[in-house]
Amino acid sequence: MTLFDHFRRPLKDLRISVTDHCNYRCLYCMPLDDYVWFEKEELLTFEELTRVANVFVRLGVESIRLTGGEPLVRKDLHKLVQQLSTLQGLKDLSLTTNGALLAEKAGALKAAGLRRISISLDTLKPERFREITKKGNLEEVLAGIAAAQHAGFRPIKINTVIMRGVNDDEILDLADFARAQGLIIRFIEYMDVGNVTAWSLEKTVTKKEILQAIQSRYPVIETGRNANRAPAIEYHFEDGGKMGVIGSVTEPFCSTCSRARLTADGKMVTCLFATNGFDLKSMVRSGCSDEELTQTIIAVWSARVDRYSEQRWAAIASGAGYSPQNQKKIEMITLGG
Ligand code: GTP
Ligand code: 5AD
Ligand code: SF4
Ligand code: SF4
Repeated sequence: MTLFDHFRRPLKDLRISVTDHCNYRCLYCMPLDDYVWFEKEELLTFEELTRVANVFVRLGVESIRLTGGEPLVRKDLHKLVQQLSTLQGLKDLSLTTNGALLAEKAGALKAAGLRRISISLDTLKPERFREITKKGNLEEVLAGIAAAQHAGFRPIKINTVIMRGVNDDEILDLADFARAQGLIIRFIEYMDVGNVTAWSLEKTVTKKEILQAIQSRYPVIETGRNANRAPAIEYHFEDGGKMGVIGSVTEPFCSTCSRARLTADGKMVTCLFATNGFDLKSMVRSGCSDEELTQTIIAVWSARVDRYSEQRWAAIASGAGYSPQNQKKIEMITLGG
């Protein structure tokens, strides 16, 4: 079955945040040291998560991505992977991670049934890496990438947020690194997620600028969006390698957005820029049936009218002006990347 929202967009992907905690404090996501994090009892247990995920899959969700915060700080994550990998009808199970703990965990995740990994990497300069992540160590992440390769994950994708004046001088170096290692790099436009970053439109390096930088060294051929609904537009290098660009700000893709999100405390959220979500955890913990969960998810998705990035771009393009402060959003660290 396929469930459609108000604009006829199908529900196909579920991004599950397993924790809002993180061992990094990235400039573009959560630069604050002090923040009110979820308590352990607030988090859905692996059993609760699997139950809710199963209802989503029966409603037509084909792919699940585990995110955070940093998903690998949640203890025994491979056990959740094991449970989710048995869901009938699920075609894809992936993870987005900052890579810091991957060196020790990649093998167990692969053995548990994880199919794909995306790793964040915004610079190849150790000091700059520390400045962007505040707590991170580049060596750990490079070791994590190597461990993921060793464990047999293919393809491995690298997520790179480009910020003007921070790492926009490294586009070609990062592309070369990815090409040399057989990784698929995706450059991402810096977005105004959450409420606590110092985002401004000037700091967003546009998809067009990113492509210009790449094409100054490598001719690439555009091949479109995976399954016609992925955030990234893909490009092929002449020698067969691939890369992607995610133009969330200047070329929004809300019209094909098929993603629902589940926060670690069990709220169903239908947009990365949403101000609130629907509390499925309370239903689960008060003993609801699968049928009641199903009907609730149907009701929430059917009523969905989110198209935040398109509205933002329309406001910017019209000259009307746009202020990210006008809407109090759920933080990206709570929703997952
Ligand atoms: P694949 O499953 O490999 O296709 O991954 P993906 O293309 O879905 O990309 P991934 O899930 O790794 O997301 C990459 C980045 O794209 C995220 O970290 C976000 O920055 C951005 N992104 C993902 N989903 C959305 C979305 O729904 N809206 C917006 N505006 N940005 C998104
Ligand atoms: N803009 C774009 N992408 C972001 N991410 C987090 N914050 C932002 C932002 N402000 C994405 C990055 C990171 C993933 C976890 O979430 O891709 O690698
Ligand atoms: Fe950085 Fe990811 Fe942690 Fe956000 S959740 S601070 S993007 S490592
Ligand atoms: Fe989907 Fe919201 Fe992102 Fe648009 S802004 S693509 S509706 S998550």
